[in-house]
Amino acid sequence: MIWTRKHLLDIESLSVEELATLLDTAMAFKSVGERAIKKVPALRGKTVVNLFVEPSTRTRISFELSEQRLSADIIDFTAEASSLKKGETLKDTARTLEALNADFIVIRHSASGAPHFLSRVLDAHVINAGDGAHEHPTQALLDMLTIREKKGRIAGLNVTILGDILYSRVARSDIWALTKLGAHVTLCGPSTLVPKSFERLGCRVTHRLEEAIRDADVINLLRIQHERQRRSMFPSLNEYVNLFGLSKQRLALTKPDAMIMHPGPVNRGVEIDSDIADGERSVILQQVTNGLAVRMAALFLINGGGGPQAVAV
Ligand code: CP
Repeated sequence: MIWTRKHLLDIESLSVEELATLLDTAMAFKSVGERAIKKVPALRGKTVVNLFVEPSTRTRISFELSEQRLSADIIDFTAEASSLKKGETLKDTARTLEALNADFIVIRHSASGAPHFLSRVLDAHVINAGDGAHEHPTQALLDMLTIREKKGRIAGLNVTILGDILYSRVARSDIWALTKLGAHVTLCGPSTLVPKSFERLGCRVTHRLEEAIRDADVINLLRIQHERQRRSMFPSLNEYVNLFGLSKQRLALTKPDAMIMHPGPVNRGVEIDSDIADGERSVILQQVTNGLAVRMAALFLINGGGGPQAVAV
């Protein structure tokens, strides 16, 4: 297919064909990452601003390395040392960056909809690197790439997302991607963090952990997003660990080949036992590696590159 989108703002609006093109192009970039010379000239002469107004380790570094591999000029914007601290609006900051000829703005922001807003007021391409509790599209893409690589398919798999669904942008993007690609999605966690209303997105909702993990081919664990919760959503962390933490005893109840995922950052000993996070069923670090290929693919396609067949440059 010919890629026509100017921005990558969410997974919700992408077609199955667009998702497949992103994943196939990412696979082609994985081979580039295995070459002696890992750099391609696809974004030579283009300027990318990484506008991270909320903390990030994985996404920020992964975008930066992807942009370097595509030969872009990069500006890393540090919110703490910027005029945002003096009361400048996001719109004025972004338009200032555009006036310096930025071609791409990669934005992470605590406000849901911030990337969509920028896409309406700027001429530059906008990529959402996580907006509030709304979406985190490149995380979902790297999750899909990892599942497809490890399991050979996504359609028909039972995927359980366990933890704080309500405040998670990763959960929302994963739900859109998984349901579009034909997986059966189960959501589990405390009823305050996993409301039944999520069934409207085509998921099964249960508050019983054993039921959620028993038939799962993939278990994706999410941390408690304390930074977005305005009140306590469960009595204590201990109670959460007792009811919903993935312990070794609970892992023993799962299918022997059930794969364990986590977008990070991991709160060891809370949503996941430390040994499981480091164990042979965990693909947490493969997820990080795949993030690079997925972000290269997104930048490449949005810049007007062809599909996977055009990557061999
Ligand atoms: N998964 C993820 O978004 O991690 P960071 O917050 O470290 O970018």
